[in-house]
Amino acid sequence: MILAGSLLLPGTDGDRPGVRLAEGWLRIEGGQIVEVHEGGLPATFDFGGDGCLISPGFIDTHMHLPQFDLIGAHGMSLLDWLDRVTFPNEARWADADYAQAMTERVIDQLLSGGTTSFAAYATVHHEATKRALDCCARRGLRAVVGQVLIDQEAPASMLREADACIAETAALLNDWPSQPEQRVAGNRVSAAVTPRFAITCSEGLLKAAGDLAQKHDAYIQTHLAEMKPELEAVAKLHGGPDYTSVYRKAGLLGSRTLLGHCVYLSDDERRLLAETGSVAAHCPTANSFLRSGTMNRQQLLDSGVALSLGSDIGGGYERSMVRVARAMIESTLYAELVSGGGGCAAPGVSEAWWQATAGNADAMGWPETGRIQEDAEADLVVIQPDVRWQDAHDPLGMVMFAYDDRWVKATVVNGELAYRSEA
Ligand code: GUN
Ligand code: ZN
Repeated sequence: MILAGSLLLPGTDGDRPGVRLAEGWLRIEGGQIVEVHEGGLPATFDFGGDGCLISPGFIDTHMHLPQFDLIGAHGMSLLDWLDRVTFPNEARWADADYAQAMTERVIDQLLSGGTTSFAAYATVHHEATKRALDCCARRGLRAVVGQVLIDQEAPASMLREADACIAETAALLNDWPSQPEQRVAGNRVSAAVTPRFAITCSEGLLKAAGDLAQKHDAYIQTHLAEMKPELEAVAKLHGGPDYTSVYRKAGLLGSRTLLGHCVYLSDDERRLLAETGSVAAHCPTANSFLRSGTMNRQQLLDSGVALSLGSDIGGGYERSMVRVARAMIESTLYAELVSGGGGCAAPGVSEAWWQATAGNADAMGWPETGRIQEDAEADLVVIQPDVRWQDAHDPLGMVMFAYDDRWVKATVVNGELAYRSEA
C-alpha cells in the first residue's frame, strides 16, 4: 500500500520536539512502513494525494471505554458526576454482550477519528473487560485496557472484594502480557493494573495492585490530583503526607504508570513523579468540563515529569485527538493569561501534534509506533482538509485550528485499511 501527500515527519518545535511537513510518499508492507521518500508525489498511490496530510495515527493515553455514551453530562463536578452519571452507566457492563457491542462501536468511532492506539479503563466487570481486550486485538489496534479495581466508597454495583478483583486482573495479565516477546505475533494488546483512584481503593487493594504490577512488569493506570475535594477525601482516607505518596507507598509509581490529570501537585510530588519516571496524562478537555482546574504543563515539564495527552472520554468531550491537542494549547494559554504570567509557555501546534502521536508513543514506551519512519508500525491517518491550508501563513496551524473530523479519509492500523470515509 502506498500513501502520498504531505507527510508529518519527526521534527522539532523550537527547542521542543515536534513534527515537520514534507511532500512525499511512503510504502507499507507486512504491517510496517518500509519506505519513506521526501520529494514529489509518485505517479500512482492508494490513498492521499496533493493537498492531503499523512499523519501518524493518533494515540490516546487516557480514556474510559464505557463512558462514550455519557459524554456531555454537564454541570457537575467530579465526585457528583461519578455518583450520578458515571457509575450508573458503567453498571451496564455487567452484561458482557453489551460491553462487547459497545467496544466495537467505540472502536469504529476512534478509527473514524484517526485514533489507532490507546490506553483505556474498562469497568469493574471481569468478563466485560475480557471482551474489550478481545475486540481491540481482533481489530488490530495497539491498546492497553484494564479492569477497574474498586473496593470502597462506591455504590454496591461497583464494589468488589479486593482479593477477587486482584485475582481477576492477574488472570488478564497472564493472557495479555505487556512484554511484546510474550505475545502472539501481531497482537498488540496488553492488560493493565487499573486501581480507579485512591478514594475508591483501600490501602490493601492499592498495595496488592502495586505488587501485582511489579510481578508482571505491567502498565498501571489511575487518577491523581484531579480536583481539590478529591485531595481532601484522599487525605482523610489514606493520611499524608500527600496524594502521590499514597501511590508511592503502594509501589504504584514507575515508567509504566499513567496518572490521569495531575492538576494539583506540590513540588515534592512533582519530584517524586520525575524520580520514578511516572507519566502525567494531561486531560485538558476533562479538566475544564468537570471544572477541576488547569494542569500546569510547563511546570511539570520543568520538573522533569514525563507527559502524555488523553481525551479522558467521557469526563472529556472530544473524541478527536487533534481537538484534544488543540485544547492542550488553549488551556495552557488561558492559564498564562489568567495568571498574568510573562513569557507564553503554551506549546506550539507542531509540539501539540507531536504530543498526540510520537510524544504519546514515547510516554507509553512504544518507540515502534506514532511516527513516520522506516521500520515503524504502519498506524497512519490520511487527512484531506477542505481549506487552503498549504498556502496558509501557518499551514499546520490552519489544519489544527480549522479541523473537521470529516477530513479523515482513511485510517490504517498495523498496515491494514481499518476505516475509509464514504464521502
Ligand atoms: N476519577 C476517578 N474516576 C474517574 C473517571 O471516570 N473520570 C475522571 N475524569 N476522573 C476520575
Ligand atoms: Zn479518567
